[in-house]
Amino acid sequence: MSSRTTGSVTVTLDGTNRSASLPLLSGSLGPSVVDIRKLYNELGIFTYDPGYGATASCESRITYIDGDAGVLLYRGYPIEQLAEQSDFIEVAYLLMYGELPTKAQLAEFERGVTLHTMVHEQIRRFYDGFRRDAHPMAVMCGVVGAMSAFYHDSLDINDPEQRRIAAFRLVAKVPTIAAWAYKYALGQPFMYPRNDLKYAENFLYMLNAVPAEEYRVNPVLARAMDRILVLHADHEQNASTSTVRLAGSTGANPYACIAAGIAALWGPAHGGANEAVLKMLSEIGHPKNIPAFIEKVKDRNSNVKLMGFGHRVYKNFDPRAKIMQRTCHEVLAELGIKDEPLLDLAMELERIALSDDYFISRKLYPNVDFYSGIILKAMGIPTSMFTVIFAVARTVGWVSQWKEMIEDPSQRIGRPRQVYSGPTQRDYVPLGNRG
Ligand code: ACO
Repeated sequence: MSSRTTGSVTVTLDGTNRSASLPLLSGSLGPSVVDIRKLYNELGIFTYDPGYGATASCESRITYIDGDAGVLLYRGYPIEQLAEQSDFIEVAYLLMYGELPTKAQLAEFERGVTLHTMVHEQIRRFYDGFRRDAHPMAVMCGVVGAMSAFYHDSLDINDPEQRRIAAFRLVAKVPTIAAWAYKYALGQPFMYPRNDLKYAENFLYMLNAVPAEEYRVNPVLARAMDRILVLHADHEQNASTSTVRLAGSTGANPYACIAAGIAALWGPAHGGANEAVLKMLSEIGHPKNIPAFIEKVKDRNSNVKLMGFGHRVYKNFDPRAKIMQRTCHEVLAELGIKDEPLLDLAMELERIALSDDYFISRKLYPNVDFYSGIILKAMGIPTSMFTVIFAVARTVGWVSQWKEMIEDPSQRIGRPRQVYSGPTQRDYVPLGNRG
């Protein structure tokens, strides 16, 4: 890794003459960090940072976010340029290997991914164990985790070739697994992947086609799906990525680690937010109900959040949200949806929230999920699949971050500390002696 020591920070324990000089490390962009690793040895104290909002857990060369400036870079390239000029498969190569591919490299990579899209036939039977009304994210956690039971030749994390194959398999097979989770819930036959289709096209085909008739993928919708995949492909050390890294730090196999990431993504504060946006919009029902809803959101005791607003890192605007908003209009125009009540409601909610001091003072802006839910709904994809699509996109980010961690010589098992505030040591009282 390549961060440099550019200074030091001295920590002094007030009221004592004890202090520690800690190195200040600088990367290529972003704030410097204090290396606190020797703090406990020198002063006998830990640091306290619930939610890790002020803690860099690793050094990474993959994704950079400047939350105040609304900047998101994959390997240095702005998300806006990648969303407009590139596509998911090229972005996947970039995230995994660090550089944009040549034509030949891209063709070989795309072919490699395409040739891995089928899953072991016995995995089909695995689905039968789930209830038909299971949430597709539950199926995703189970089936992706179960890949470790099927692909024994790519479980040795110390073998670079096995790591490479596992990464390929995950990126290639996750759309198939996701589409089958959907088909299983519908009770429709599973559609096998088609090697003549591009990544996003093939995903839409497996989601929407049925064997009884020909299905042509709409190019505008394929482009929109591709863009959703690009925008969600990585986002540095977010909750699910940190979960993948933490699970991977124990030496767990990559399929198990990605299943852990899927579980973390499922929550409504993270990947479940686009599903929650749609639920919120249908609960509000009509623009006339917005003011009352906003009042509820502002009431501290109500515990109601404006879903699709706010972000742990972006405190100005989410650059992905701007691109999503444009794509949203393209999709609605293509589908001939002029008066989509949910979109009208979303736009009105956005307008009111952006002019309300509660949201302005807290720097709460629409995030990517505010619009992606509306696009997916317009495309006919049910809300329960929204987070699954996010998981399909993020798999390449998880895999890239997992590989980077395994290949980092400074990597150790992730093991946070705590402030213990429970009972101090006390003696066991036999049952008969307890009052
Ligand atoms: N609606 C209403 N108030 C909010 C919202 C919201 N969506 N988000 C934050 N706030 C308020 C908080 O209550 C807090 O108010 P206070 O200062 O009066 O206590 C203040 O804004 C600061 O918020 P934090 O909770 O400190 O923000 P944090 O960084 O911890 O949370 C989070 C970020 C979880 C994303 C939050 O904004 C949220 O729950 N948003 C809604 C869910 C959502 O859209 N998640 C998607 C995230 S993007 C992604 O995963 C792709």
